[in-house]
Formats: sequence, structure tokens, C-alpha cells
Amino acid sequence: MRQRFTVIILLLLMGLSCSLNMAAQNQAPSEWQTCSACHTIGKGKLVGPDLYGVNEKYSEDWLIRFIRSSQTMIQSGDPQAVKIWEEYNKIPMPDNDLTDEQIRGILAYISAYDPEAAVAAAPVIAEEAPEEHVAKDIPGKFGPGNTQPTFIIFLILFILAIVDVAFTRVIRARFIHFVIILVSVFVCGEIIVVEARALGRQEGYSPDQPVWFSHKVHAGQNKIDCLYCHHAATESKSAGIPDTRLCMNCHNVVRKGTVTGETEIARVISSWETEKPIEWIRAHNLPDHVFFSHAQHVNAGKLECRECHGPVENMDRIMQVKNLGMGWCIHCHRQTEVQFDSNSFYRKYTGLQQSLKEGRISRVTAEDIGANNCQMCHY
Ligand code: HEC
Ligand code: HEC
Ligand code: HEC
Ligand code: HEC
Ligand code: HEC
Ligand code: HEC
Repeated sequence: MRQRFTVIILLLLMGLSCSLNMAAQNQAPSEWQTCSACHTIGKGKLVGPDLYGVNEKYSEDWLIRFIRSSQTMIQSGDPQAVKIWEEYNKIPMPDNDLTDEQIRGILAYISAYDPEAAVAAAPVIAEEAPEEHVAKDIPGKFGPGNTQPTFIIFLILFILAIVDVAFTRVIRARFIHFVIILVSVFVCGEIIVVEARALGRQEGYSPDQPVWFSHKVHAGQNKIDCLYCHHAATESKSAGIPDTRLCMNCHNVVRKGTVTGETEIARVISSWETEKPIEWIRAHNLPDHVFFSHAQHVNAGKLECRECHGPVENMDRIMQVKNLGMGWCIHCHRQTEVQFDSNSFYRKYTGLQQSLKEGRISRVTAEDIGANNCQMCHY
């Protein structure tokens, strides 16, 4: 009796956490994550075509071959493949090392996807770029909060199974322990991998810092210019974090703060006296294969810091507010007009200058000057 009761409880727990997990992932197969850098479903084109209705446009066999290696098909002269390749200005789609089953999974996800429902389900923020709603459906982009209950339940199951097999022996049939241990190791492992991949590109990431440094106190209340501390932003790739010496320009005198009293400023002074730099933790991290330059955006592009970093002057603790994904960069390059005539930086684009003057085009976007070419952002 006791044995059967325990088995039922364990199975119920497993069922519960599986459904939690499914709800969190919105059933997108994990392979879709790569595709979503370049494709949306029903939200317009990104780097590649909108994939809404693609299952009706081509046969399944064609799609499987194309997704695995579009270049092979283009080179073999497949007319449909060549047509879309030319339509997209010969931007290559990378090969995907996927099984037929995995590709069918992606295709099934695309065909079942309802863009209206997804928009309704996502927390809609008025002027957010559309691809950021899509991003919400991608496993790996959801915050740790969503997977935590599943993780904990499976960890408990794992421990219970081990304890039972070794000591309590409530369940006699060994295979039940075996199944539970196997499933929980798999689920916990999967969650760890997904979360690790999401690290560093997480919207809302806001690490603890060694000193309670507040942008609200400095840039907000005391109106210190961003460039006073991040002066490198106009002339180099990185904006840089200021050295303690710069803090001491003011904190030689200002020894007490309204929020933290003397304790936090004392740490700054101690760093200066011991010559040990403060070890700030980075909030924004692009992967190594991506090139990004502040000078280009702040100086040539004349963009405000807040367009990419949000209202930093209201933040007591710095937070990453954009997902820093490829779709985010691409989308802005499509939308943002460059101030062509007033900026000597753009003099070299004589062809575009001419078209603009003759009224053949009404505006020039960052994309028009090549910002969406692969090699611009990837080493
Ligand atoms: C780096 C960008 C990129 C990635 C990643 C990418 N694609 Fe593409 N995809 C493209 C481009 C560009 C095209 C247009 C054809 C061409 O230029 O080769 C395309 C075309 C397609 C087409 C044909 C669509 C049509 O309407 O004709 C399908 C289907 C497709 N991709 C599926 C996928 C799937 C599935 C994945 C993920 C496994 C994926 N793509 C990943 C860039 C990408
Ligand atoms: C076009 C978007 C964009 C604009 C505009 C922008 N940033 Fe950034 N910022 C980024 C990205 C992306 C990163 C991450 C860079 C990386 O990991 O290599 C970053 C990183 C940073 C960092 C971390 C240190 C570093 O340089 O990598 C600081 C500090 C920073 N930005 C400050 C600023 C300030 C101050 C401004 C305005 C003068 C500004 N940013 C304007 C996108 C932007
Ligand atoms: C241009 C002057 C100036 C610079 C440079 C400066 N601070 Fe401050 N800081 C202030 C002022 C003014 C206050 C506010 C005192 C108050 O709360 O009335 C302050 C407050 C603080 C506080 C306490 C906040 C509170 O309210 O409890 C800390 C911690 C701090 N600063 C750290 C730093 C660090 C770290 C740097 C260098 C990266 C730095 N400051 C650079 C002017 C400056
Ligand atoms: C008094 C100096 C000071 C001023 C003024 C200042 N910052 Fe900072 N900033 C820092 C310090 C110190 C850090 C590192 C500690 C932290 O992350 O809070 C930092 C970190 C950042 C980061 C996060 C970098 C990362 O990825 O870790 C961004 C983004 C940023 N600042 C943007 C701005 C913007 C935008 C402004 C103007 C509204 C501004 N800062 C004004 C000192 C300053
Ligand atoms: C808020 C809008 C915005 C965002 C977000 C943005 N960019 Fe840009 N980007 C621009 C503008 C505007 C230009 C044109 C300015 C110029 O001439 O360099 C540009 C230009 C570029 C260029 C240079 C093109 C050239 O002609 O030299 C590169 C490379 C680039 N961006 C990379 C990135 C990367 C990588 C990201 C994402 C991490 C990103 N950008 C995000 C607006 C943006
Ligand atoms: C405007 C800048 C920009 C351009 C142009 C660009 N990328 Fe990317 N790409 C990025 C950024 C930023 C990331 C990192 C995304 C992340 O970590 O979420 C990335 C990631 C990737 C990845 C890894 C995908 C992943 O999920 O880790 C591949 C593959 C890729 N890009 C291929 C391409 C190809 C092929 C092109 C040309 C069609 C291209 N990119 C054009 C900015 C760009």
C-alpha cells in the first residue's frame, strides 16, 4: 500500500513539472534558436525571409535539403533555391547539421505557430521592436525564474530516488528508481545547458557590484555627464569603466552619501589608497565573434546612450535592458536613418549622395551603407 502510494506521488510530481517546463518553453524546439537570429514567423523579414507559411510554399523534402545546406542546392542550380538566394542579395544561410527529425520538428513548430496569439501572450511594451516579442518564445531566453521550480522538483526527485534505493527501500522495483534518476539527470542537465547559453545575453541582467555605485545618484541627481566617466565611448571600440583615480576627483572631498553614509565611499577610498582596482562585474557581454564599436555608433551614428542602454540615469543598479541579440542589431540598422548630408564621415558614399540629391531615394539607413553585411559584425 505504502509503496503504491509513493509511486503515485512521484509520478504526479513528474507530470506536474513536465507541464511547467512545457509552458515555459512554449514548445519551441531548441534548434529554432539558431534560426531566430535571422528569421521570424509572421513578423516580417529579418536577415532571411519571414517563414510564415513556408510549409505551403515548398515540399517537405525540399525544405529538409535546403535547411541542411542551402548552398549545395544553389550550386546545383535548383531553380527555387536560386530564386530566393538572388532575392536576398546572395546572403548565405549557414549550413545546419540537423537530422531529418529535428528539421521536421522545426517545420511543425513553424506551421503551428500563431503570431497573433504569441503577441497577445507576450508582455507587450508599446514601442518595442517586434522581433523582441519573438525572442520571448525562444528557450534559452527565458529568465532563471521560469525554470527554477522544474529544476528544484527534479533535483528533489533525484535525491529521493537515491535515498530510497540506498536506505529506505519503500519502492521494491529497482527499474522505477532507474527511470526517475535518468529522467531527472536529463531534465536538470538540459536546464543547466539552456541557462548557461542564455548567460551574458540576458535582458534584465543586473549583477551585484563590489561597491554600491549608483548611476541615479551620479548621472541623475548630480547631473554628471555620461562622457565624464565613459569618455572612451566617442573615440574607441569600448566605452570603458572609469579608474578609481577619476572617482577621487570628487571623493577626496565628498566622503558621505545620503543613501549609504560613509561605508561605500570608504571602499572607494580604500581602493585608491591600496592601489587595488575595484573589480566591477560586466553587465553587457557580446560573444567574442561579434565586433561592436561605440565610436561608430556614438560618434558617427550620433546615437544616444539611452537608445541601447535605457534610462541609466534612473538606475541605482545598472541593468542590461536589451537582449543584444543579432536581430536587435539588424532591426535597428533597417530602421535608423543616418544623418547623411550633415556628417563628413559619409562623404565616401558618392553614389548614395547622388541618389539622395536627385530624389531617387528619400532616406539612407545604416543598412544601406552596409551595416548588415555579415563581415561587418563577425570576425
Ligand atoms: C545567418 C542567418 C540565417 C540563419 C541562422 C538561418 N537562415 Fe534561413 N535563410 C537565410 C537567408 C539569407 C535566406 C534567403 C536564401 C539565401 O539567401 O540563401 C534564408 C532562407 C531560408 C528558407 C527559405 C525561405 C523562403 O521563403 O524561401 C528557409 C525555409 C529557411 N531559411 C529556414 C531556416 C531554418 C529552419 C533555420 C534554422 C535551422 C535557418 N533558416 C537559419 C538566413 C538564415
Ligand atoms: C548602438 C547601441 C549602443 C549605444 C548607442 C551605446 N552603447 Fe554602450 N554598449 C552597447 C553594447 C552592445 C555593449 C556590449 C559591448 C561588448 O560586449 O563588447 C555596450 C557596452 C557598454 C559598456 C561596458 C564597457 C564596454 O565598453 O564594453 C559601457 C560602460 C557602455 N556601453 C556605456 C555607454 C555609454 C556611456 C554610451 C553613450 C555615450 C553608450 N554605451 C552607447 C551598445 C551601445
Ligand atoms: C564629479 C564628481 C563625482 C565623481 C567623479 C564620482 N562621484 Fe560618487 N558621488 C558624488 C556625489 C556628489 C555624491 C552624492 C553625495 C550625496 O549622496 O549627497 C556621490 C556619492 C557616491 C556614493 C554614495 C552614494 C550614496 O548616496 O550613498 C558612492 C558609493 C560613490 N559616489 C561612488 C563613486 C565611484 C565608485 C566613483 C568613480 C567611478 C564616483 N563615485 C565618482 C560625486 C562624484
Ligand atoms: C561618475 C561616473 C559615471 C557616470 C557619470 C556614468 N557612469 Fe556608467 N558606469 C560607471 C561605473 C563605475 C560603472 C561600473 C559599475 C556599474 O556597473 O554600476 C558604470 C557602468 C555602466 C554601464 C554598464 C557596463 C557593463 O556592461 O558592465 C553602462 C551601460 C553605463 N555605465 C552607462 C552610462 C550612461 C548611459 C551614463 C550617463 C547617463 C553613465 N553611465 C554615467 C561610472 C559612471
Ligand atoms: C539603436 C540603433 C542601433 C543598434 C541597436 C545597433 N546599431 Fe549598429 N549602427 C547604427 C547606425 C545608425 C549605424 C551607422 C553609423 C555609422 O556610419 O557607423 C550603425 C553602424 C554599424 C556598423 C558599421 C557600418 C559601417 O558602415 O561601418 C557596425 C559594424 C554595427 N553598426 C554593428 C552593430 C552591432 C554588432 C550591433 C548589435 C550588438 C549594433 N550595431 C546595434 C545603429 C544601431
Ligand atoms: C549588425 C550586426 C550583425 C550582422 C550584420 C550579422 N550578425 Fe550574426 N550575430 C550578431 C550578434 C550580436 C550575434 C550574437 C547573438 C547572441 O549571442 O544572441 C550574432 C550571432 C550569429 C551567429 C551565432 C548564432 C547564435 O545563436 O549564437 C551566427 C551563425 C551568425 N551570427 C551568422 C551571421 C551571418 C551569416 C550574417 C550575415 C547574413 C550575420 N551573422 C550578420 C550580429 C550580427
